[in-house]
Amino acid sequence: MKAAVINQFGSPEVFEIRNIEKPIIKEDQILIKVFATSINPIDWKQRKGNHKLILGSPFPITLGYDVSGEVVKIGNEIKDFEIGDRVFGVLDNKYGGALAEYATGHEKCFSKMPENITVEEAAAFPMVALTSLQALRDKGNLKVGQTVLINGASGGVGHMAIQIAKLMQAKVIAVASDKSERFIKQFEPDEFIDYTKQSVLDLNQKVDIFFDVASNYTFPKTKHLLNSGGVYLNLEYINTIKKMPLYKLHQLFSKGKKAKSLLMKQNRADFEIISKWITKGLLKVSIDESFNLNNISAAHDYAQQGHNKGKNVVVINN
Ligand SMILES: NC(=O)c1ccc[n+]([C@@H]2O[C@H](COP(=O)([O-])OP(=O)(O)OC[C@H]3O[C@@H](n4cnc5c(N)ncnc54)[C@H](OP(=O)(O)O)[C@@H]3O)[C@@H](O)[C@H]2O)c1
Repeated sequence: MKAAVINQFGSPEVFEIRNIEKPIIKEDQILIKVFATSINPIDWKQRKGNHKLILGSPFPITLGYDVSGEVVKIGNEIKDFEIGDRVFGVLDNKYGGALAEYATGHEKCFSKMPENITVEEAAAFPMVALTSLQALRDKGNLKVGQTVLINGASGGVGHMAIQIAKLMQAKVIAVASDKSERFIKQFEPDEFIDYTKQSVLDLNQKVDIFFDVASNYTFPKTKHLLNSGGVYLNLEYINTIKKMPLYKLHQLFSKGKKAKSLLMKQNRADFEIISKWITKGLLKVSIDESFNLNNISAAHDYAQQGHNKGKNVVVINN
C-alpha cells in the first residue's frame, strides 16, 4: 500500500512516499481503508523526534492519529463494527499510522461516521473534539453558567472548545490574534480578546477555567484570574507534569484553585456524545487547508507554523 513514512526524525522534508506492507490486524482490531487524516500538533512533534525517548525509533514510521475510513476487515473479537461501515476515530498504535492507504486500531478507537459530514470533516473532528470535551468536562468540571477563557481559540482544539463550552451552557472568552477574529466570531463566543492588543493577564474579570490551549502561560501567572476553586488547564501533558511540584506549592495558598493537564483518551461513550452533536448540526469543524499524501511535507510545514484556523486535512483515498 502507499504510505508517507519517515526514516529519520527531522524537518517536514523527511517524509518519503513508499509502498509498504498492508498492516495485519489482531483479533481485537479493525482494518480500515483510509479516506482522510488530519494533522494535530502531536504529529509534527513526533516527526521532529520529541517523543523518541518514550516511543522509540521503529523506522520506517507512519505518523497520523486522526482518521476517517471504511472498515475492510475485522478481527474475530470485534462486536460493534462490520465490513463496509464508514467510521472515524483516533488510532491507538504507537505513532498512529493514518498517513497510509490502510490503517488499524482497536474497537474503542472508532465510531460510525455521521452521515451529514464529509470524509475530510470526519477526519478533522476526532482528536480535537475528544480533547475539548474531556478537558472541559472531566478536568475543568465545567458547570452551567460558569466562565471559561480559551487561549488559542482559533486552532483545532480552540475552535472545538468554544463550541463545546457553549453547548455546556458556559460563558466563553476566546483569545487569539486579530487575524483570527472573524473566523472565531462565527462560533459566537461571548467575548473576544486580541492578544496582540491586550494582555490576557490584565483581564478585569475572573474565570472558572483558564484553558491554556496555546500553552504560553503558567498556573502561577494566571491564578489571580481564577475564581475560588477555578482550574488552570494546560494540554502540554509532559511539561505540565514536570511543573506539578511547583504548581502544588502554589495550590496550597490558592483558595482551592488547581492546575491540571490531560491526555486525551479514546472513549466510545464520549464519541457518541460528539457524534450526536455533529448529527444535530450543533458541532462543526472548520477545515483550513486540504492536502494529499504527495504534498505531506507542505502540510506539516504549514501546520507547525501554529496559526491555522481550524484543522488541516490530508486526503488519502477519495
Ligand atoms: N494532551 C492532549 O491529549 C492533547 C490533545 C490535543 C492537542 N494537544 C495540544 O494542544 C495544543 C493545541 O493544539 P491545537 O490542535 O489546537 O493546535 P493548533 O491547531 O496548531 O493551534 C494553533 C492556534 O494557536 C493560536 N496561537 C498561537 N500563538 C498564540 C498565542 N501567543 N496566544 C494565543 N493563541 C495563540 C493560533 O491562533 P492565532 O493564529 O490567532 O495566533 C492558532 O490558531 C498543542 O500543544 C497540542 O499538542 C494536546
